[in-house]
Amino acid sequence: MYSRIIGTGRYLPERVLTNADLEKMVDTTDEWIRTRTGIERRHIAADDQTTCDLAEGAVREAMSAAGIGPDDVDMLVVGTTTPDQIFPNVGCLLQKRLGIHGCAAFSVEAACTGFIYALGVADKFIRCGDVKTAVVVGAETLSRIVDWTDRSSCVLFGDGAGAVVLQAADEPGIVSTHLHADGKYKDLLFYPTGVSKKTPDREDMQDVLTMRGNEVFKVAVSTLGRIVDETLEANDLDKHDIDWLIPHQANMRIIKATARKLDMPMERVIVTVQEHGNTSAASVPMALDLAVRDGRIKRGERLLLEAFGGGFTWGSALITY
Ligand code: UT7
Repeated sequence: MYSRIIGTGRYLPERVLTNADLEKMVDTTDEWIRTRTGIERRHIAADDQTTCDLAEGAVREAMSAAGIGPDDVDMLVVGTTTPDQIFPNVGCLLQKRLGIHGCAAFSVEAACTGFIYALGVADKFIRCGDVKTAVVVGAETLSRIVDWTDRSSCVLFGDGAGAVVLQAADEPGIVSTHLHADGKYKDLLFYPTGVSKKTPDREDMQDVLTMRGNEVFKVAVSTLGRIVDETLEANDLDKHDIDWLIPHQANMRIIKATARKLDMPMERVIVTVQEHGNTSAASVPMALDLAVRDGRIKRGERLLLEAFGGGFTWGSALITY
């Protein structure tokens, strides 16, 4: 038993924040942002829009593309680190919106790797025969936790959501997923506020996303190189066997480094970072949906999805689309 993608969707909030807009907010330039990151603009959720709102838009598109209704869904898994509230989790909030009742619904918290983690989890449930149809989402409103006075991080992030519908199939589909984490890097990229951390130093904590960008950059490049090797070796494939790379969209320079590792021309890499910035867990499913809908990715082609994020967490998925 395998799982395969039978529908994809994405949702981007309407408001667009350009590099020129950011020039008026912090001491930065369009030139710096473009050359260091590749980002030109990003979408920002409206004040009354939540992660669940964005997720709902993406899931409705994915379910419509898959031709399924609420009664067909056996499981809902949402990768997010910016949930509407601690509980009910975004999966449950989505169930209510979509009129889905009774099936398991939960969130997976793995920062930018959230969607790959969610995909890995849902794939396992389908492979073992417990679930026939699963909705898998990556959705974030990172704009809510960014320090808009910190030029080193606020220029990087954006909001959005992407989703896929997975269904049981006799052939892959999802060939393999590879999930990893190493908590020793917890201080390089974090958002400190939670519920249970009521220690005296709480007052000293800044309630914003904090990143040591340059150090994260270096670990990201080497780790993503390793996971590409791991994925190819696990499936006895050569780097030239991959048709499309769908990377996490954090930084154009990181994307290019991974493409070089795969000896892949940039025409075979789905890149949205210039339009979306880093949307964390939403970035990979949004890029996938874009390239499916514009006809670049075709049935039967081999896709390599990868992501890296706070934790650190990292992961990949090899998919025959
Ligand atoms: O998605 C999860 C994982 N996250 C990532 O993968 C992000 C990884 N990191 C990065 O993408 C890059 O490290 C950044 C884009 C964040 C930064 O690029 P960098 O080439 O590593 O620059 P840097 O941090 O070494 O900073 C270089 C200079 C510094 O000035 P000095 O000290 O050389 O005078 C910064 O203060 O650039 C300065 N700087 C800026 N200048 C203009 C930092 N941010 C800005 C800015 N505008 N927005």
